[in-house]
Amino acid sequence: MGELDGRIAIITGGGRGIGFGIAQRLCKAGASVVIAELDDEAGKKAVAELESTGLNASYQPIDVRDPVSVERAVESTLQAHEQIDILINNAGLVSIGPTEEYSIDDWSKQTDVMLSGVFYCMQAVGRSMLKVGKGVILNISSIGGFGAWPLRASYNSSKAGVISLTENIGCEWARRGVRVVSVAPGVTRTQLFQQVVNSGDASEEKFNQRTPMNRVGEVDEIASVVQFLVSDRASYITATTVTVDGGWVAWGNLPV
Ligand SMILES: NC(=O)c1ccc[n+]([C@@H]2O[C@H](COP(=O)([O-])OP(=O)(O)OC[C@H]3O[C@@H](n4cnc5c(N)ncnc54)[C@H](O)[C@@H]3O)[C@@H](O)[C@H]2O)c1
Repeated sequence: MGELDGRIAIITGGGRGIGFGIAQRLCKAGASVVIAELDDEAGKKAVAELESTGLNASYQPIDVRDPVSVERAVESTLQAHEQIDILINNAGLVSIGPTEEYSIDDWSKQTDVMLSGVFYCMQAVGRSMLKVGKGVILNISSIGGFGAWPLRASYNSSKAGVISLTENIGCEWARRGVRVVSVAPGVTRTQLFQQVVNSGDASEEKFNQRTPMNRVGEVDEIASVVQFLVSDRASYITATTVTVDGGWVAWGNLPV
């Protein structure tokens, strides 16, 4: 018996990285997982990999920037499964640059995916959860949502917004059976991390030095906390963000 037996979970950006790690964890705990992806190939590959080990997964195309696409994905998931117990808002991307030169297009892309997209998914899935009076929404924010980090104004303000959405909607829905929580990962080894390293913005060594534990995180270290937070073991946790960051945020005053 898995602790998530019979639960239906939808994971945005579940085709790779942290989203796929969460999909593996939730499936192994007994959930049926819907991989909701923009990248068709990644989404289908992820489902094939989960199914090849006997786990229960399906693919649902989605572009979280588009409220119509979100509604369609939620409708078709509800038609297939009747209910959604768990929503993981994980889809993300990163683009770094000096604010004075930053393109409006990059600003829109980041905020559309990582702030508006989170709201659209919370609203569409939340409606169905409120009808039955139960459900858990978990938003992936970031250490970037706490405090300043130059060249990341759009990424970090989107993530700070996600922390705020978690608190606001978590309190709004707390008496109606829907929990809303967030996990703020530290630097975690994925394709997105590799993209930042390849851009020359920072090396893995520099990230290690900045982290009290002196290393970056691994996907399953994030996914295991997500599994706990969406399970009934976390039944009294809502409207808050848990950092999983090797101590990064706590270490506010860096040695000079
Ligand atoms: N890796 C890190 O160091 C780190 C740290 C803190 C927070 N995060 C956050 O974790 C989440 C996952 O990041 P990751 O490192 O696994 O990145 P990743 O690039 O490996 O995966 C991101 C996934 O999101 C999907 N996606 C992008 N735009 C989408 C859209 N419009 N609609 C649907 N899906 C879309 C991509 O196709 C991809 O599968 C992101 O929200 C990211 O900001 C990552």
